[in-house]
Amino acid sequence: MNIRDLNIGIVGATGAAGGTALKLLLERDHPADKITLMASARSAGRKIQYGDDNIVISEASSDSFHGIDVAIFAAGGLVSRRLAPRAVEQGAFVIDKGSIFRMDPSIPLVVPEVNGDDIEWHPGIVSTPNCTSTPFVMVLDALRKLSAIKAVTVATYQSVTGSGSAGQQELIRQSGNVLGGSKADLDVYPHQIAFNILPHVDDFLSDGYTKEEQKMLNESRKILHDESLAVSATCVRVPVEISHSESLQIEFESDVTVHDAKRVLSGYDGVLVVDDPSRNEYPMPLTAAGGDDVLVGRIRMDTAHENGLALWLSCDNLRKGAALNALQIMDEAHRRDVLNPRSQRKIK
Ligand SMILES: NC(=O)c1ccc[n+]([C@@H]2O[C@H](COP(=O)([O-])OP(=O)(O)OC[C@H]3O[C@@H](n4cnc5c(N)ncnc54)[C@H](OP(=O)(O)O)[C@@H]3O)[C@@H](O)[C@H]2O)c1
Repeated sequence: MNIRDLNIGIVGATGAAGGTALKLLLERDHPADKITLMASARSAGRKIQYGDDNIVISEASSDSFHGIDVAIFAAGGLVSRRLAPRAVEQGAFVIDKGSIFRMDPSIPLVVPEVNGDDIEWHPGIVSTPNCTSTPFVMVLDALRKLSAIKAVTVATYQSVTGSGSAGQQELIRQSGNVLGGSKADLDVYPHQIAFNILPHVDDFLSDGYTKEEQKMLNESRKILHDESLAVSATCVRVPVEISHSESLQIEFESDVTVHDAKRVLSGYDGVLVVDDPSRNEYPMPLTAAGGDDVLVGRIRMDTAHENGLALWLSCDNLRKGAALNALQIMDEAHRRDVLNPRSQRKIK
């Protein structure tokens, strides 16, 4: 079957990640009559423009997936937990963007450039990583070709669209409030995000880290198949609309050079080295937004660690961090002819 003949359903089509998946389908010219858009009862009946067509949104229900070949879930964990197994029963290949299945050992967690082979053993569902983990593991996968990686310290600078459309609206609304001299009203975040930064993404855990920081450790180990990898993350929300950035300090087993790091990163699919300090060229959220590549720059020796490198990356959290990675999983499963599960496990 040609990939353009696949019937694709998006659950959460009115949201930031689902809406970006639809945008990417339009960029690929996927036929409108092969797309089903779903959201909550609040949006049922609304129309979304798709090129010259309008597609009517339906309410996602346990009966919505007959005739759908690929179902992209971007409506949060509870919806995935309830409906993804029903979609599989009805014959759909599910790509889940939420966190609910990511650490389930029977469900692959995939960034195609890193561990595309893992798609082969899916039981009907393939999970996509958190938007900070995806560019992170791509950079680590490229660099571990030079030497095994012992430990990584990472600080993230995460945009508000990582909290969905509501986060974006909060930044815009608060910015207007503050510039207009009034008080910022709080809804999504516990503190003002406009003109501020919050060292707090997702819930706090008893060890002092947040769930977002824990995801960077656990997801990286699963995707890179490296249970000994040490990762210490500090995840920070910044008043940027789109694209997450990350500062990495990577400790290797043996000596590496900046020159070799640039060489392996430049040769890695989906990574673009932007690194010319003499011309003030480095990755920024503004230049990463709307693009497909993970931008990497500021590559230098880490003066605090033996065999260490420091670098900076920016990546569009809605595209490669979410929707693009999901569509690339679909492409890879189609290319390998494994849209139907090989594993017979029943998903509850
Ligand atoms: N934003 C990112 O950067 C990013 C990156 C990676 C993964 N993700 C994941 O993608 C998922 C969606 O995130 P988002 O940022 O796109 O959130 P969002 O902008 O808040 O969108 C949420 C979507 O879910 C739909 N929804 C809510 N309740 C529903 C229900 N009961 N049944 C069906 N649909 C329902 C909403 O529909 P209504 O409009 O009808 O309410 C909306 O389309 C989350 O699991 C998130 O973890 C997001």
